[in-house]
Amino acid sequence: MRDDVRLLLGEGSSVLFTEGDITSQDTDAIVNAANSSLMGGGGVDGAIHRAGGPAILQACKQVIAERGSLPAGKAVATTGGNMKAGYVIHTVGPIWRGSGNEEAKTLASCYRESLQTADQLHLHSLAFPSISTGAYGYPLHQAAEVAVGAVAESLPHCKRVREVRFVLFGAAAFDAYVQAAKDLAQSVEPPLRYTIQTTES
Ligand code: APR
Repeated sequence: MRDDVRLLLGEGSSVLFTEGDITSQDTDAIVNAANSSLMGGGGVDGAIHRAGGPAILQACKQVIAERGSLPAGKAVATTGGNMKAGYVIHTVGPIWRGSGNEEAKTLASCYRESLQTADQLHLHSLAFPSISTGAYGYPLHQAAEVAVGAVAESLPHCKRVREVRFVLFGAAAFDAYVQAAKDLAQSVEPPLRYTIQTTES
């Protein structure tokens, strides 16, 4: 297991990178990499429904009945059921088709809309998985760059959310996201100044 890494964005906002299972996180909400039907699936979606129990599917059915299927790039909150996190924020990532730009816009929207949803619920902390990089086939390093960039841009605009966690399944995903954070911290222009904190620093 890799040691956690933190990206400090200033003004009390930070992004933690940790290797692990998102279903055991104690953040106020966790994000689900769902599909438009919100009826569950494999990967992180399956793990969240198993850990949270039937209350999540029940809430998803109600959402679908009220507003129809959830388009890619959008987000909606339900109960967290039996998990420590009080809410699950379901978002639908893009399916990678190789064109790059459109997928990147949709992926960035997933992170932005999930953060806005958490902020509207007055939550302070939110955990994300690596959206679209499993069944949806988005290349890991490209997804990491979009994800970290979108969170760094959106988090300072939140009134209440202060901490975002990326909960990464396996060393390869962890390393890709930490590399994206380091690249961002190096390339950001003043007055912005991002700092990377590791256990050694
Ligand atoms: N905790 C954290 N990350 C996890 C977990 C977990 N418990 N389980 C899987 N992952 C990781 C995967 O390793 C991958 O890097 O989540 C990432 C996203 O993979 P998927 O869950 O396959 O999500 P995605 O690529 O967005 O595909 C969504 O998969 O099962 C379906 O219903 C879901 O149709 C939707 C599609």
